[in-house]
Amino acid sequence: MIRKGIILAGGYGTRMSPLTKATNKQLLPVYDKPLIYYPLSVLMLAGIKNIMLVVNKGQRQQFKNLLQDGTRFGIKINYVEQEKPKGLPDAFILGEKFIGKDNIALILGDNFFYGQSLTKKLRKCLALNMGCKILVHPVSKPELYGIAYTNKKNKIVSIKEKPKNSKSNLAITGLYFFDNKVIQYSKSLKPSKRNELEIVDLLNIYKNKNRLSAEYLGRGGAWLDTGSIDDYYNTSNFVSTLENRQGFKIACLEEIALKNNWINKNNIKKAISFYGNCIYSSYLKKLIK
Ligand code: G1P
Repeated sequence: MIRKGIILAGGYGTRMSPLTKATNKQLLPVYDKPLIYYPLSVLMLAGIKNIMLVVNKGQRQQFKNLLQDGTRFGIKINYVEQEKPKGLPDAFILGEKFIGKDNIALILGDNFFYGQSLTKKLRKCLALNMGCKILVHPVSKPELYGIAYTNKKNKIVSIKEKPKNSKSNLAITGLYFFDNKVIQYSKSLKPSKRNELEIVDLLNIYKNKNRLSAEYLGRGGAWLDTGSIDDYYNTSNFVSTLENRQGFKIACLEEIALKNNWINKNNIKKAISFYGNCIYSSYLKKLIK
């Protein structure tokens, strides 16, 4: 059973410059809230309350101004500063103490997930005892992602990072579930040509031991990207279309916490005074009416 999660919110967001010159990419808006709310909501929907947030050196306070220690959403957030981006598996080396003897979920701070059966799928993934589970989803541009190749029985036979002319379109999303061996395996990795520890190398260790499995998000689920400026606007449009049509917010952290019974109406009132007079607060007010 997995009860802890890591969010990787470091990186320089160079493809988004000059937007990312003064602030972190994960603090930029996706429609009506900062990007970081979305991956955080995914962990919370899964039922994870104990979270480590990896941020760039010197950016801890920016994130703390927004998320504080997590009490507002009934969770606990530990902040860890990363000297410089060293690749995704570095999260497990930085997080060794936080992880302890437990299994762990990892989500990339710029990944957006949405779907009817998402919570159910996530909770299924959290039941992991041994090995590694990844969440996969079809994409039209495999050259931009880690790609999984499966056999007729849907078993993963190989994985490649950003392959050119790929025959498979099954992308490995930025949400991973690992057993505790991930710390030891991450430490054994050697930096790649671009001088980073590679997630694909880590996944390959599990695959070679026959311990890598995949969960399909399915066509009814959305996995969107915030890799480029256009992706940001497309994701914002997706959120704005759904929210304005349905009247429900996506990734309202206080709402998820309230539904999980992690906070009560008083906490929502405190959140309203934290945010001040804004549309987000009006939505929170409606929740406790
Ligand atoms: C990273 C991973 C890639 C994965 C992607 C998901 O790529 O290396 O395997 O498919 O995240 O968002 P990056 O976004 O760092 O290029």
